[in-house]
Amino acid sequence: MYRLAVLISGNGSNLQAVIDAVSDGTIPNAKVELVISSREGVYGLERAKKHGITSNVIDRHDSKKQFEALEDHKIDGIVLAGYLSLLPPDVIKKYNRRIINIHPALLPMFGGKGFYGIRVHQAALTAGVKFTGATAHLVELDYDTGDTLIRSVVPVLEGDTAEILQKRVLEAEHKILVHAVKALTENKIDELVKKPITLIREEDKESIIEFAQGFNKLYGALTEADNGEL
Ligand code: GRF
Repeated sequence: MYRLAVLISGNGSNLQAVIDAVSDGTIPNAKVELVISSREGVYGLERAKKHGITSNVIDRHDSKKQFEALEDHKIDGIVLAGYLSLLPPDVIKKYNRRIINIHPALLPMFGGKGFYGIRVHQAALTAGVKFTGATAHLVELDYDTGDTLIRSVVPVLEGDTAEILQKRVLEAEHKILVHAVKALTENKIDELVKKPITLIREEDKESIIEFAQGFNKLYGALTEADNGEL
């Protein structure tokens, strides 16, 4: 049984996606053993309680307490699910290549310090991108770096506000996070690192193909010259 710790700072919908995937067997032979929140009173803590999962509120800088909790619960791997801080370097080193983060954009775009929550989506709208998405990746010592495991492409639609976009991206996050956590618990992370998966939701396919065709009209000759085929 693979013992997961999920770290949160807020609503915990990604935590819920992992809990649900464990309980419906999508992620077999695993258990959400521990939830650590960097903030008091957040809804993610209620979710943990509802599912009988031990939870602790631990200051984001307190690596000693984080270690104690992780070791007491014999944690095998860590999921950062809307955890809004960097983990202390010693924790990252100890759980090297066993920590996954979910980020609400296609990294390296709109990632790094200051890109969190609604700001990520505001930045995507301000930049005028046609597509954004979500990335599940391994955690390294800096924000939003580390090998990509799975990404999902999500279109930015006419009339989107940052809130509407956030909601669409969040649904994609839930899906790819579950995939990535499953790979973590089955020791298949290296396979994903070698060949990251890009998911496109059924309902997004049409607009992505339309965009690609328009792009191809503009840049087709260049693409053909580059690789000989399309
Ligand atoms: C998600 O967009 C996550 O990617 C980001 O913070 C948000 C948290 O959502 N880092 P939730 O707490 O999982 O609902």
